[in-house]
Amino acid sequence: MTTPVLASTNLTVSCIGAGRLGTTLCRLFLEQQSDIRISIGQVLNNSLQSSLKALDFIGDGTAAENPQSLKPADLWLISTPDDTIQEASEALAQSGILTPGNIVFHCSGSLSSKIIHLPDNRCYRASVHPTHSFADPTRSVSTFPGSSCAVEGDKQAAQVLNRLFSAIGGKCFPLQSDKKGLYHAATVMACNNLVALLAMSKKMLAEADIDSAQQELILNPLIRQTVDNFLNNPNPADSLTGPISRGDQSTVATHLDALASQRQWRNAYTALGEVAVDLAKQQGFASDEELRKIMDLLTKANDDY
Ligand SMILES: NC(=O)c1ccc[n+]([C@@H]2O[C@H](COP(=O)([O-])OP(=O)(O)OC[C@H]3O[C@@H](n4cnc5c(N)ncnc54)[C@H](OP(=O)(O)O)[C@@H]3O)[C@@H](O)[C@H]2O)c1
Repeated sequence: MTTPVLASTNLTVSCIGAGRLGTTLCRLFLEQQSDIRISIGQVLNNSLQSSLKALDFIGDGTAAENPQSLKPADLWLISTPDDTIQEASEALAQSGILTPGNIVFHCSGSLSSKIIHLPDNRCYRASVHPTHSFADPTRSVSTFPGSSCAVEGDKQAAQVLNRLFSAIGGKCFPLQSDKKGLYHAATVMACNNLVALLAMSKKMLAEADIDSAQQELILNPLIRQTVDNFLNNPNPADSLTGPISRGDQSTVATHLDALASQRQWRNAYTALGEVAVDLAKQQGFASDEELRKIMDLLTKANDDY
């Protein structure tokens, strides 16, 4: 069955929750030059003042004061914070404004499109998660192109959103609904948790009485070289150096002694050390026996606590 949206090249997008991501995407949708012509219908935020500020940036559309004053649209972007997406979709469904073929989507990285409440099965739902930091909409409008976009949900909705996000420079790929949590945790590991790990490393240097200027001299080139190696080698094992790669048990034992009194530091060291042992096995520099002994040291350090 061809839905009204799939058949049309003139589409209206309305946005519930036009904050940093919502305003950026609406502006990009409006300005894209593909064969789909987009107009912005309405914006509905918590406050009218916030909706008017969003509209000023987007350059099209009008403000809705509440779900009951929403007018018909083809696509509905729900870009409220994750905790309120479900509630916002319920309010949208209850407003009675959704019509057959409408597409309702959100942009959360961890939540599936299944949290979107639809009045019946004549509308479609999806989610599109762009791997982009929308801290500043003005900057994001020019830096968004090239961002990966994970698309998940009803086939009909995914088809339209693939076209729309590709038209604004997104690099779309399909993601299974039940894998979203794992996918998002992976992106957090590479971004937020990497920052936490580096912050921990700085604290350890400070504890060793090394001042912040010297910390930068030690860490900055090391971080750059490591990230550079990682980005230039498809197999992470090719970038691993250090005591675990060499099978150096006494150095690992010295580290564990030094970290014994700091639970966070020791837990992070042992958890990541176990991953490094797996990589070292692939490398083949250290013997199986050396790596087994290192694994025993790491496990024992956790058990002893
Ligand atoms: N920011 C990013 O870098 C980024 C990246 C990828 C994905 N995302 C996803 O994008 C979504 C939005 O994130 P964001 O950072 O753009 O959020 P944000 O800047 O905090 O904006 C949220 C907006 O939602 C409005 N809002 C909150 N509750 C509402 C409700 N019940 N009804 C109507 N409007 C409501 C707020 O209105 P008021 O201003 O009136 O309070 C605000 O304009 C989230 O799902 C997030 O996971 C964000």
